[in-house]
Amino acid sequence: MDNRKEICERIYKMAKRKVSFSDICRKMELKDYEVAGLVSIMNQEGYNIDFVDGEVVIFKMPPKAEEIYTVPYDLEHLKLLLISDTHLASKYDRLDILRYLYDKAEQNGVKHILHSGDFTDGRSNRPEHIYELKELSLEGQVDYCVKNYPHFSGQTYVIGGNHDYWWSKSAGSDIVKMIANQRDDITYLGSDVADMRIGKLKIRLFHGSGANAYAVSHKIQKYLDTIPPKEKPDILQMGHIHQSCYVKVGDTHCFQTSCLEDQTPYCRSKGLPNDKSCWWVDIDFDKRGNIHSITPKLENFGEKRLVKKRGR
Ligand SMILES: [Fe+2]
Repeated sequence: MDNRKEICERIYKMAKRKVSFSDICRKMELKDYEVAGLVSIMNQEGYNIDFVDGEVVIFKMPPKAEEIYTVPYDLEHLKLLLISDTHLASKYDRLDILRYLYDKAEQNGVKHILHSGDFTDGRSNRPEHIYELKELSLEGQVDYCVKNYPHFSGQTYVIGGNHDYWWSKSAGSDIVKMIANQRDDITYLGSDVADMRIGKLKIRLFHGSGANAYAVSHKIQKYLDTIPPKEKPDILQMGHIHQSCYVKVGDTHCFQTSCLEDQTPYCRSKGLPNDKSCWWVDIDFDKRGNIHSITPKLENFGEKRLVKKRGR
């Protein structure tokens, strides 16, 4: 559609004026599924527009963290665990894997765990989503996470993902912030993207949105291209696509981090794999604290439960 941009802008302006979905369709002389498709495309392209309860709405963009969260570190060796897309409160979440990983982190002296979003499954406007959830309410999902997320002696640093946003769109609430406020061992860094430093190690966490690319490494490499040279991190960790890969581009070690959730009926219907895995990363610093080496190791998980699940 040649004039798609112009049509999208007209829809956006009407949504801003709170024109009803049926009136937008009528005024644009478009079918409801055509308007719905355009709204979906705009959402994927970064517009703060979406469907909520059958209406096109403009939602408030979640706040972006602009400060660099800094953790002092002066030892010569650092161990990290990179995880993502835990989709907690989904009937398909894998708390057993999370508990196994946090126990292993504790045993191996890992004190910093990085989580690149979709901490919760949220609650989308897909009507059938409710059948995939253990908890339907914002309060229920917060309580579930605060109670069940594994505790450990270190710190988990987390950003929000597109599933977490659902609560921002529909209730104006930042669910990951609410959870982190009740847990001393979880630090919320912001929504979708955040920078942090551990010693001299520069880390960018990014969740992302939109459809999967043909090649698993495509999105993370394209995203890295958007970061100015002086700001390029040593570690770029990305979530969202529920697949894993590692690629080193220039001086940046790029980790596409998969999920810790079984394949949902929605993912199955879309042909989306839910590969379950995490990255263990060893970093060596020289005497001056500069990075000497970064060594990744992937750990995969299958369908088999690792421990007896509680609460089911
Ligand atoms: Fe996800």
